[in-house]
This record gives sequence, C-alpha cells and structure tokens, in this order.
Amino acid sequence: MGSTRVCSGPPAVGYVQFLAVALGMYALTGTLQTAVCTGAPPRGRGESSFALTADWRFVKGEQAENVTRLDFDDSAWQAVRLPHDWAIAGPFNPSENGYAGKLPWRGVGWYRKTFRLDEADQGRRVYLDFDGVMAFPKVYVNGQLAGEWDYGYMSFRVDATPYVRFGQMNVVAVQADTRQHGTRWYPGAGIYRKVTMTICEPVHLAHWGTYVTTPQVTDESAMVRVRSTVDNHLNGESKVTIDVILLDPQGKSVASGRRQTSVPAGGATEVDQTFTIKNPQRWDVDHPHLYTVKTVVRTGDAVTDMEDTMFGVRTFEFTADDGFHLNGRRLQLYGACLHHDHGPLGAAFYPRAMERQLEIMREMGVNAIRTSHNPPAPELLALCDRMGFVVWDEAFDKWDATAGRQRGEPPLEEFGERQLRNMVMRDRNSPSVVVWSIGNEIGAGREGVTPERVKFMSDFVRKYDPTRPVGMGCHIPGMVDQPNFDALDLTGWNYSRRYANYRQKYPDKPIVYSESASTLSTRGFYDLPLPNRKNQYSDQLQVDSYDLNAADWSDIPDAEFRLMADDRFVAGEFVWTGFDYLGEPTPFSQEARSSYFGIVDLCGIPKDRFYLYRSYWRPETTTVHILPHWNWPDRIGQNVPVFVYTNGDSAELFLNGKSLGRRQKGVIPERPTNFAKGKVATASSSQTDHMPDSANDGSRATRWTAASGQAAQWWQVDLGQVQSIKYLAIEFEREEKLYGYEIKVSPDAAAWETIVSKPTSREPRWGGPKQIFHGLDTQARYVRIEFNEMRENTWAAVAEFAAYPAHCESDYYDVTYTYRLRWNDVVYEPGELKAVAYKAGKRIGEAVMRTAGEPARLRLTPDQTRLTASGEDLAYVLVEAVDGKGTLCPLADNLVQFEIGGPAEVAGAGNGNPLSLEPFQDGTHKLFNGKAMLILRTVEGQPGRIRVTARAEGLQDGRAQLRARR
Ligand code: GAL
Repeated sequence: MGSTRVCSGPPAVGYVQFLAVALGMYALTGTLQTAVCTGAPPRGRGESSFALTADWRFVKGEQAENVTRLDFDDSAWQAVRLPHDWAIAGPFNPSENGYAGKLPWRGVGWYRKTFRLDEADQGRRVYLDFDGVMAFPKVYVNGQLAGEWDYGYMSFRVDATPYVRFGQMNVVAVQADTRQHGTRWYPGAGIYRKVTMTICEPVHLAHWGTYVTTPQVTDESAMVRVRSTVDNHLNGESKVTIDVILLDPQGKSVASGRRQTSVPAGGATEVDQTFTIKNPQRWDVDHPHLYTVKTVVRTGDAVTDMEDTMFGVRTFEFTADDGFHLNGRRLQLYGACLHHDHGPLGAAFYPRAMERQLEIMREMGVNAIRTSHNPPAPELLALCDRMGFVVWDEAFDKWDATAGRQRGEPPLEEFGERQLRNMVMRDRNSPSVVVWSIGNEIGAGREGVTPERVKFMSDFVRKYDPTRPVGMGCHIPGMVDQPNFDALDLTGWNYSRRYANYRQKYPDKPIVYSESASTLSTRGFYDLPLPNRKNQYSDQLQVDSYDLNAADWSDIPDAEFRLMADDRFVAGEFVWTGFDYLGEPTPFSQEARSSYFGIVDLCGIPKDRFYLYRSYWRPETTTVHILPHWNWPDRIGQNVPVFVYTNGDSAELFLNGKSLGRRQKGVIPERPTNFAKGKVATASSSQTDHMPDSANDGSRATRWTAASGQAAQWWQVDLGQVQSIKYLAIEFEREEKLYGYEIKVSPDAAAWETIVSKPTSREPRWGGPKQIFHGLDTQARYVRIEFNEMRENTWAAVAEFAAYPAHCESDYYDVTYTYRLRWNDVVYEPGELKAVAYKAGKRIGEAVMRTAGEPARLRLTPDQTRLTASGEDLAYVLVEAVDGKGTLCPLADNLVQFEIGGPAEVAGAGNGNPLSLEPFQDGTHKLFNGKAMLILRTVEGQPGRIRVTARAEGLQDGRAQLRARR
C-alpha cells in the first residue's frame, strides 16, 4: 500500500549516495534495493523519514501552557515509547457500564519529545505525520501550536517547519483529550499509532501525492496511470524533473518515464504519466502480487525527493446479481469485521499484532476485512495488500459524537470532506481496498442520514478516488422508502436479511452483507441444558460455546451460511466479529468489559466457532473439531451433547471405544408428534385471509390474525382427545416480547385451567425472537391462548402453534444439522471421545477429546521464537495448564506468574474472560478455562536470548526460549 519513505535499522549508506547507487542499478540490472534509515533522530541531509518511537515523556491530566516549551523540565513525567495507550494499564472500574471496557480512557494526556535538528538541514521542510491520536490532538512545536486534528482515528500531517530551530534542540508536545470523544466501544487514549518525522527539500512530493490507478487491465497488458504532485516551498518557480520507474513484483524495472515541469512558488503541480506493462501479474487474494512505483524528483541535477509506492494490478466489480468479482471470477466474501483494539495491548498498534490477527483470520478462511468502524492504521492495509485480503475501508461509525462532532459542530460538510480526503488519499493506492464506506448504521436523526448528506459524503470520496464504489453499513429497511441511499454505489446491510427491501427497490445495485452473525460465546465455557432460543443465555454471565446463542437482532453462523448460499446476488458476509474486542459486552453489558462476539477471544485464542467457520469456508482443508471439553465430574450418567465441526460430510463418534453412531450432515432428527397440527382451530375473531387454522397448518408463513387490534382476543385448538402435553412451541407474527397472554387448558372446553401467564416485556430493546416455548406437564384436549395486552400496536396473531409430548428443539436450529454434526443424547462418562470424519465416503481425519486429570504443569507455546530486536516485535506465548499426560485441563484457573530473562518485556497478558478485571499489564494473570496469553515485546537494539518462565502454585513451571536478533 501507500508510499514508503520510512525505514528501520541504521543507515547503510547516505541517502544521496544511495540514490546514485540505486539509480545506477536500474541501468545495470533493473532492480532496486530498499532504502534503509534509522528510527533515531534524523542526522544529516538525505534520510527523509523516521518513526519517532523512543524517548517520549508522558503525563496524565491538564497542564499549564509552559509544558509545550523547550525549557520545561519533564523529568518527572513517565518515560514511554510509542505506540502508547495510557488507559489500557487500568485500573478497571467495576461499577462502570462495560460499553467502553471499564477502563480509564476518558481524560487528558500530554506527551513530549525533544530532538535535535542539524544545522545542515537549514532550509529544509520538517513534517510530523500522525497515524492516529485519541483524541483531538493539539501538536505544539517549541511552544507554538503547529497543528491539530479532530478525529481520533484519522491520520494527519503537521507542518512543523515554521516552528523548528536547526542546529538546536526542539520539542514537540502533544495534548490528547478524549473528553469530547463519543464511542460505543473502547477507543484507547493517547498517541496509539505511529508518528513519523519527515525532513525533506523544499521541493518535494506532496503528502500522499502519488496516485496510481490501472484504468485498463487485460491478461496481455495493463495501463498504469501515475499522478505525482510536487510541492514547491521556495520563493521562486522551480523547474523539476520527475522520473517514474515501475518495478514488477520481482523488483525488475518494467516501465519508466520522465517529465519536466515547473512548479510555481509556494504552489503545487501534478504530473500525469501513463505506462503500459505487459502480461501483468495480478494482485489477487491467492497471489497478492505487488508492483512498485519509484518516483524521483530532481531540480537540476540534484535529487530532491524519492518515494516508493506499492500498487496492484487487478480488476474487481460488485455486481447486482452475482456478488463480487475479482479478476473476472466470482469471489464469495468470507469477511470479518475487526475493531481497532488489540486486547491486552489496548489501542496501541503494533504491526506484528495486526499481522497475527490476519494470520489467524486467514487460517479460518477469511478473505475480506471490514475496518469497523474507522480508518485503520495504515499498516493494516499494507498487510492486507501483502497477504491478500480485500478490505471494506470505513470512515465513521456515526456522524455525531462518535466522529468527534458535538451539537452539529464542526459543520458536517467541512468535517466530512476533511476526514474523507485524508482517508482516501492515504489509502487509495492499496489494491486491497475495494469499498469506501462513509459510515455505519446511521439513522435518520439530527446528525443522521438524508439523501443530501449521503450524496455530499459520497461525492467527496469520489473527488479523491472515483475508482472504487462508495457504500455504507445500513440497518433500517424502512429508510429505503426515501431516496436516502440513492447516491451510494452499493449498500452494506447488517443482519437478518434486512436488505430485502433495498433489493426490491434497487434491483440493479450490489449488496454486501456488511454485518452478519453476532453470535455470542465465551471460549471454553459450556452450560447445560442447551439453550432453545438464540437469546436464552446462561445465568453465569458467560455465553455457552455450543454456538447456539446470538444477539437479539442477529443469528447463529449456520443461518448466515444458509442465507449466503441462497442469496448469491449478495457479495458475501462480514461476520461480527473476527476477534473479541474491548467494550460492547452484549448481553452482559453492565458486568463484563469485553465482547462475546468474537470468533476468537480477546487474546486470539480460537473459540469453537473458529472451527465451524473453517470447516465451511475452507472445504478442502481438513477440520475435525470436537466440543465440548470432556471434564464433567458433576454430570456422570447425565446428558452432555457433543458437536463435531468438520469439512467432512459425516463422522462417527466413539466414547471410550464404543460407537455412538455416525451422523450425516443435512439430517434433521425427527420431532415428536405435534398434537396440534391440522386439528380444528377456532378464534374470537379472524381476518378473512388469516383464519384460525393457519396457525396450526405446519407453516410459519401463514398465520391467524384477529379481526381487530384490541386485546381480549383468543385462539384455540381442539386436539381431538385428551393428550399428555409436555411442551408448547408458539411462533408469533412479531417479537414475542410484544404479547402478553395466558394459556388455558381444558378437557371439555367448559372448565379451563390457566397454566401459563406471560406479560409483555420491553426487553430486549432491539428485535428479539418471535418464538417462545413453554415446558409443561398437563393433560388436555383444548388449548387456548388468551391475549390480554399487546405493545406497539401489535394485533393478536399466531403464525404457528405446536403441542408436543416431550421437550423438543426449536426449528430455528434445524439449519445447524446442515453445517455441524450433532450427537444430542450422549450420556457422559469420563474417558475419551473420538470423532472420525468422512467426506464422500473417504476418511479424512479424526479428533480426540480426553478427560483431563488434575493440573500438573504449565505448558508454554510461543507463536514465534525468532524475533527482531526492534522494540516493536512481539511474541504471543500461549500458557496452558495440562495434566501429567499433557492433556489440557479445561477448567483450570490457576494464577500464573511470569518471569522474563533477557531482552524482552511484558507488553500484556490476558485470558479471554470478558468478566476479568485483572490488569492486562502486570506480570501475573489467571488462566481462564485452562488458558492464558502472555505477550512479550523485544527491546530496541538489544538482541539476545529470552527466557520465559511461568509459575503457578502446585504446578511444574512452564518454560520457553526465544531469541531476538538485530
Ligand atoms: C451492529 C453495529 C455494530 C455492533 C453490532 C453488535 O448493529 O453496527 O457496531 O454494535 O451491532 O452486534
């Protein structure tokens, strides 16, 4: 993606020297090495960009103005490195609502960094580039306000030139103030992304001033258009020569061009060049080939600037009827929404943390990322470019306080253009970006959607890049009745097939399922009996990992698989969410501090669901995964259902060597007899097209509806004879929370007994199921529902009524039998469960789950053992309690103490428990359901052996060795 002048490591050669060598090399070999420079303060002419990472000082709280001045003594402030999130260290506030993680992110923080500028740099420009500061950063240079920004997720540039002193020490002071920042999740606080200092000649390439497009692409050739904008800060006009060299993915020069132009004093000139490359190597998710544009600016013989810009050659199209096409073939989007935080690291952005997230998503089969709901760190796009993900690049959640706007200020037009300009100019060279999104779930309120606002937002985007569609995440089907979304090229729709209206009204426009699932679970947590409704949650403030629970407004993964298989016009789904994130802990919003939505937990440990997605999204890769764990000392002789997630079509399950039968995908277990189906139904009144027998005809598509909206209506069925009823399943026309009713039974339609009394409810606030179940133990011939109260102008109506002689599973879960294999009636005995999976009759693999003994030792498994001593490379060390035979102890919750020897420090630790209020950054952490994660960070410039020891009382230590290299 984007442009690079930033490098790491000590300078190998001076910049000018380097250029001479590099340009000479084109002539000789057609290849080019990458520039190398240092993260240390800039030295000498030449090196142009440096990450300002080390030696910052930080203090929390408001400060007097003199802290911006060079002579201020900041020695009492905390020494910090960037990236830095001041709130992630805690402490948690247990009594606060969990929506933003219960962490102390709200407040003011100050940063200072001193640096020396060489006398020799006199006359050059000095810029500070911030990738993201939460929030409302004000940047002071040597006591003067040099720049500020009003959106915490946006990259921005500050021109420090007028304020700096060459040949002397300088200070940059940054105030971050989150008090006016609105949010629906944990935003982090402080300078949480990279800061770069660029020192360059007064005639230089403009910021984000290289724009590469590929207007025509065939298998034989690609036209590449490169626009280069040059700024001139001199007092006189400047004649410049711009060389553009195109390098193929192997580094070979494949085209070049030279233009001369003049740039007016204090102005900018754009140069537009077009090239043709033969037999282009496509950028695709499977083979993300990247080309490079090398731009060199000269005045006279002197090179004044040079920049590398990566781009890809690819074609893509969102179609109205056949989803998304990449390079001419349909690509089903297997997407994940990702929030910007990194769990125990908070909002602090480390490229390795991001790379690891993407590796985990890739392993599961993800090929598309939605940066919900903000512009990401630029490195995310660089990684997606390199690894092969397509990206839905999103500017905002709402357009109100969550975007930093209060009471309509600043005006949306002005604010919107400023933010969209930066996002689009920064990201438009990334081949991975395929959609610009101008927002998410914006209602029609005061700062909300109107046709005009959507149009001007979309037009700003197109002004800076007309080559990609503009969309947004929508959620209110009724908003389609106004021309609200006319100006969009495509729409994303969140949940529950809400795109149906839009599809009808705009049959020619593409649709993306921009949020799907919102399934909930806690890693390693199982609570029995199984829920029978998606929003029937465990009372232990954790969510069952049998993957049968979803948020009220959403669905389980299988339902979304089915929907995407049916609605092929949709480009595919973006699951909410790939990773758990800090904040929004639905359904335990008050008690918990992080989400239950993730397919993997807050530390990146896969939940069961990970294997469900993997089995469906990667059909050619063997997945055989058993759940739950097999340690149920309290349920010996009782039922513990077993599910297997596999890409196979069938599997046989064995318990202690005894077969529990083979299951085949697509086979739904038979239900007990529904006594009510087809029996005589009557009602107090009926609409002519919604007669009483429509409520027990076996179809939920038809319904009985009363003739008036008044309460005091009833519907009744005659079962023909007295039956022994244990279970009622009722589906209403609307959400069951809207209906208050009594259920009465009678042997003779004369003497009635009330057996259920159900009031209306205001919970859940959004949506909720239409189905309800009542477990009973009664004998009756007649069953009657008497409606006594309805909310929201709801009329008495029953879509389907069923009466059973035994408990039975909601048909909502029928779809699970297509995508999972389920043994519902297993009787627990300790030992070994084994699943052997088959595909088309061939055995493809097996999985084993064993009952663990007592925890005996800790086991450490690092994700990588060879690190770079850069100060930002990370190792994620998985910590597990295992028994004497090495079997994971799935209930262990021991407190673990970490000891690090050698050049590494604890960057964070966590365990994926949404309720845990243990600090993330101490040297200890409890296991949760047997596991925890320790995150180590290397020390800049300090290579060496790193020894990790994990200790827990009564257990044998766990040890791991890593090595950091230069
Ligand atoms: C959506 C919203 C997301 C997140 C999600 C949780 O409606 O767009 O930001 O809140 O619900 O299910």
